[in-house]
Amino acid sequence: MTEDPTNPGFWDERYAEGRTPWDQGGVPPELARRLVARKDRGRRVLIPGCGQGHEVAAFAAAGHDVTAIDFSAAAVERARARLGTLLAPRVQVADFFTHPFAPASFDLVYERTFLCAQEPASWPRVARRTAELLRPGGALLGFYFLGAKEDGPPYGLDPEEPGAIFGNDFTLVESSPVPAGESLPLFAGREFWHEWRRRA
Ligand SMILES: C[S@@+](CC[C@H](N)C(=O)[O-])C[C@H]1O[C@@H](n2cnc3c(N)ncnc32)[C@H](O)[C@@H]1O
Repeated sequence: MTEDPTNPGFWDERYAEGRTPWDQGGVPPELARRLVARKDRGRRVLIPGCGQGHEVAAFAAAGHDVTAIDFSAAAVERARARLGTLLAPRVQVADFFTHPFAPASFDLVYERTFLCAQEPASWPRVARRTAELLRPGGALLGFYFLGAKEDGPPYGLDPEEPGAIFGNDFTLVESSPVPAGESLPLFAGREFWHEWRRRA
């Protein structure tokens, strides 16, 4: 048993025991709407900390080349089982910080509750690694938790913090609250959709 969220065992235990209060159980409605609205296809998409991988099929169905990673083998096992043989190979056990992806391997990084699962001291490292993996002009988008840091994970962002963390390499394109009723109780009223553009 470990209480260290930087250790995959912390997450393995929770998946094995079904203690996953962050898990939406499906594609977040805000993402589903946005995927339908997007006109682009064939983007190289990375989903870091994909958990049970609910969004993998949605990105694939929208025509994108999706790679999903999680360093918890228990999460990946569950994601693969849910996705079936065709999409299972899209999900890999890998550490976001150390997996040997080539620089600028992706056009788009999508995340949900990944940053807030990391200790705040490592948030600048998350931003730098994301910038490294995205091509210039690429997109970082997803769901972010604004709230308290005590007793994390989840560790909440202060309202000004996203700019401080991502502002070096990214330009904020959009920040919108997730519509009422669409967030899980854990995040209700404190969940935001953010889109950032990787500067050249
Ligand atoms: C709060 S869960 C979110 C899972 C999923 N994104 C979701 O929305 O249900 C955070 C996930 O990040 C994974 N994770 C944490 N640190 C990681 C790392 N360095 N590399 C890869 N995955 C990591 C954990 O194993 C866990 O599955």
